[in-house]
Amino acid sequence: MEIKNLILTGGCGFIGSNFIRYLLEAPDFTGRIINVDKLTYAGNIENLSGIGERYPDRYIFQRADICDLDLMRDIFLRYNVDAICHFAAESHVDRSIKHPKGFIHTNVIGTFNLLEIARTNAENFVLFHHISTDEVYGSLGLEGYFTEASPYRPNSPYSASKAASDHLVRAYHKTYGLPTTISNCSNNYGPYQFPEKLIPLIIINAMQGKPLPVYGDGKNVRDWLYVRDHCEAVWTVMQAGRRGETYNIGGNSEMENIVIVEMICDLLDEIIPPSTGRSRREMITFVKDRPGHDRRYAIDFSKLREELHWDPRESFASGLRKTILWYLDNGPWIDRVQSGAYQTWIAEQYGEPES
Ligand code: NAD
Ligand code: TYD
Repeated sequence: MEIKNLILTGGCGFIGSNFIRYLLEAPDFTGRIINVDKLTYAGNIENLSGIGERYPDRYIFQRADICDLDLMRDIFLRYNVDAICHFAAESHVDRSIKHPKGFIHTNVIGTFNLLEIARTNAENFVLFHHISTDEVYGSLGLEGYFTEASPYRPNSPYSASKAASDHLVRAYHKTYGLPTTISNCSNNYGPYQFPEKLIPLIIINAMQGKPLPVYGDGKNVRDWLYVRDHCEAVWTVMQAGRRGETYNIGGNSEMENIVIVEMICDLLDEIIPPSTGRSRREMITFVKDRPGHDRRYAIDFSKLREELHWDPRESFASGLRKTILWYLDNGPWIDRVQSGAYQTWIAEQYGEPES
């Protein structure tokens, strides 16, 4: 399969921007990327600064809303698009609890629009790859893992909207024969993640001497994957995954939230010893739990490992250190994303004004 013109949606977000950097350097991709992004609060054009200059013939940015069917069709036809890799989504569980409507629009209607455009222009179309999450499977107890055969049991408006989009992608393959692949991945972390999510929020608050909010008892478990490993897995599935199939992607790194927060404190204390001489752990604050908070996610990715020979490269300890060093080196990026909109969210969610 050779992709010549790839629409990549949501390329200014956390994973999308990492994926664009990864793909433009991949030796087995020589095509052109058309990055379609609405630039919501989570989309940051700066995440790709320098890319347009470095790859003038292979990278195009189009600001557009995937919910705008006519505009998306124009872009598809203008650039002779033969594949779509669909990252764009409203992606934050806590926001979906407070403001669910936008999640249904972007994640469900937006995905439907892209599928319709691909279906009705299918002649040279080679692949629709849909980026999804392990959260569609719901919550686990202490035992067991999500496999591709696990039932869908989404618990938040975010995961329900992603589940709906997964079902649409599946249906377009079964009904219309659209060449599709889906990947359901566990929690990512790494450079360029917006600091509403646990790891960047804790790193930045700890750097800035602010309280470190941990929901509930801190014992909820997620399986963490360094973002570059996710990028490599997605490209592996796009190239070699069987059409119509779903592949789980995981990190083999199950961690309790409280353990992660403590690790971040300890790593920061080691890299920049606190001037007070007191551990940053003292800033950990247990706060009210998230409603419907999923207890544990854990991924069985043996299908991807056995069929396509992918394994994560980064351990959680090495990935977390790299991530902390990236945030320490990118103060101006942090200053700019901590804008007015960010301050409003922090006040709404944690109920305390930023100092
Ligand atoms: P993000 O919130 O950082 O980025 C989302 C991007 O989509 C932003 O650039 C935003 O501007 C853009 N966008 C939002 N609505 C849009 C619209 N209507 N039209 C065009 N662009 C729009 O998200 P992320 O963490 O990079 O996640 C990317 C994808 O990966 C999502 O589909 C998410 O469900 C999935 N995913 C994320 C994780 C994770 O841990 N972050 C894990 C598994 C799966
Ligand atoms: P998050 O990064 O929002 O990802 P998701 O909800 O998609 O898994 O949260 C990861 C875990 O961290 C989740 O169990 C909720 C918890 N959490 C906190 O304890 N404190 C926080 O301030 C945030 C944002 C999350």
